[in-house]
Amino acid sequence: MIITIDGPAAAGKGTLARQLAKKYGLAYFDTGMVYRAVGLELLNNGLSPDDTAAASKVAAGLTFARMIALSAQPGFRSAAGGQAASKVAAMPKVREYLLKMQQDFARTPKLPTGEKTAGVVYDGRDTGTVICPQADVKFFITASPEVRAMRRHKEYLQKEMPSVYEDVLAQTKERDLRDSSRTSAPLRPAEDAVIIDTSDMDITEVFAEACRIIDDKFLK
Ligand code: C5P
Repeated sequence: MIITIDGPAAAGKGTLARQLAKKYGLAYFDTGMVYRAVGLELLNNGLSPDDTAAASKVAAGLTFARMIALSAQPGFRSAAGGQAASKVAAMPKVREYLLKMQQDFARTPKLPTGEKTAGVVYDGRDTGTVICPQADVKFFITASPEVRAMRRHKEYLQKEMPSVYEDVLAQTKERDLRDSSRTSAPLRPAEDAVIIDTSDMDITEVFAEACRIIDDKFLK
């Protein structure tokens, strides 16, 4: 079974994807990691995330193992890391180089322990439209920019990272605009995606709704 979960930043995709992966015994691929890895590699080397040639070179050489190693660095989930990721993600060459790694994951999906699984939950922006258009169930998870910015702001504070709500809101809107207006794989729901607006829903409600949709399709 392949499930895709797309949507804008901080809509609750990651939480839902992890919960669904656990419940249905599936592997999980957070595809934002590939762009965060490229962005962080550039920042670590004093290069600009606007440098298309440098970003393409990093993307061409990125391995799954290197991505996992970079994900342990503090800058990976930072606001600067997110901005850098969204800049390199708008470059068609970068997306092209990172496509195969993401698609290959569904061929032999496994848990971080190496245990094989019968499928995968992808989360990202284009997983139902480009990475895995053949997915069995597709979700598009969204929420208002204000709600998403507040969630991200609280997350930063919980991790004891400096955060100002107004700045997070401005960055959220900036990333939304860049992600949805780029020419290559713009953020949009797949035609056959189920759209869930989580603005007034908590995690438990979103999870219950997603499980109902999956079970309706597979257990009836
Ligand atoms: O989901 P996350 O915030 O980690 O993603 C970081 C950035 O990577 C996003 O702002 C988006 O620009 C990009 N991305 C993408 N396609 C994906 C996943 C993430 O363009 N499938």
